[in-house]
Amino acid sequence: MLFRGWGESVDRRWPDLATVVDHVGVGHLVVTRHALVKQVLTDPVTFRPDNALDAVTPMPVAALRVLAGHRFRLPPTLANNSGASHPEIRGIVADALHPTRVAAQQPWLTALVRDRVARLTADLDAGRAVDLYAELAADLPLLVLARLVELPDAPVGAVKDFARAALELFWAPLDAERQRALATEVGRFHTVLRGFAATGGGLAARLRAAGHSPDVVVGALFFLLVAGQETTSQFLTLLLHRLTGEPEVRAGLRAGEVAAADVVEEGLRLEPPIVTWRRVAAVDTTLGGTTVPAGTSIVAWLARAGRDPEVVAAPADFRPGQPGSRRHLAFGAGAHRCVGAQLARMEAAVVVAEAAPLLDGLTVVRPPWCPDNLTFRMPDAFVIRRA
Ligand code: HEM
Repeated sequence: MLFRGWGESVDRRWPDLATVVDHVGVGHLVVTRHALVKQVLTDPVTFRPDNALDAVTPMPVAALRVLAGHRFRLPPTLANNSGASHPEIRGIVADALHPTRVAAQQPWLTALVRDRVARLTADLDAGRAVDLYAELAADLPLLVLARLVELPDAPVGAVKDFARAALELFWAPLDAERQRALATEVGRFHTVLRGFAATGGGLAARLRAAGHSPDVVVGALFFLLVAGQETTSQFLTLLLHRLTGEPEVRAGLRAGEVAAADVVEEGLRLEPPIVTWRRVAAVDTTLGGTTVPAGTSIVAWLARAGRDPEVVAAPADFRPGQPGSRRHLAFGAGAHRCVGAQLARMEAAVVVAEAAPLLDGLTVVRPPWCPDNLTFRMPDAFVIRRA
């Protein structure tokens, strides 16, 4: 289950807690029930977030050398920060992503998506196949994020390649050669980020003005560029794919009987782009009656928690608006809950409202394929054509 926490494995029978040993012999306590996942995520004293960004495949010396050559450092800033600086750094990031600032981006994003959908519709009408990941979902979240946090210009392709390389380097089962190649890609972009952090305006400038060291500014930007755009691209792709198999939901959207926001919540519940998230036990403790020694890696299975029968009456069905639909833990919970949740929801609602009509009367040429990864789905493509 560890590296494919979706699909068949998420629907299998599981105990509330299961120790699963990974590819390098490390045992992880996988938490499968909604209530227990929530308990872990909302108790940062007993279950600290310190291991959130640890490489699941330990890095060999060659890869570490490559990273060191780029002066790569990732001090605790956001997701893996259990220290005193977390609330302040989080507060500065949350200001940049404030709901009113997010709402102000909606008209711009809607116009952009509408324009793209018109072009894709013309392509489909002309009999061409289109890739909804590459041609619709991949760059939208990055374009919005760049406006919100005032990122200096960076080629979109370079940011996407870096982010995907980081997700693979830290969360995938890998061999040493691949680790070295990924470390080169991640390290190279880290150097670019150091430049942004030193001179950039917007969020970078606010973090600098608050007295945070260059390493902290780089660390915050690093995490945002990965978590703040790639996750949403993945989610948009997975959700659109899911909707191809939900004709009644699409009909409801068309008729104005189903709200795009409700479709997004069911999407997050059933197709979360982040399937697991880690914590580490800080002390000897118990969880759901099981003894948990200090130092245990806890894998909170977010994808499974969304399908807990305690949460909704029809856990496996895609029913927008069903009671409990919003109780998923796709954005985590507690002090580290996703600060970009509002932004991701807005982006997804715009895409659902504008792009769902594309899915009528089509054939899926190539469904999204997802590589082995502890945490991220990372769909590679989603190709459709008219039936
Ligand atoms: C569908 C899209 C997204 C999903 C599913 C998602 C999910 C998550 C999850 C599971 C966490 C860990 C929460 C925890 O430890 O309890 C997290 C943290 C975080 N996310 Fe997101 N996220 C998404 C989009 C975004 C966006 C758009 C941004 C910003 C632009 C963002 C920024 C962050 C940050 C900064 C944190 C760390 C918060 C902290 O530690 O205080 N995420 N996200």
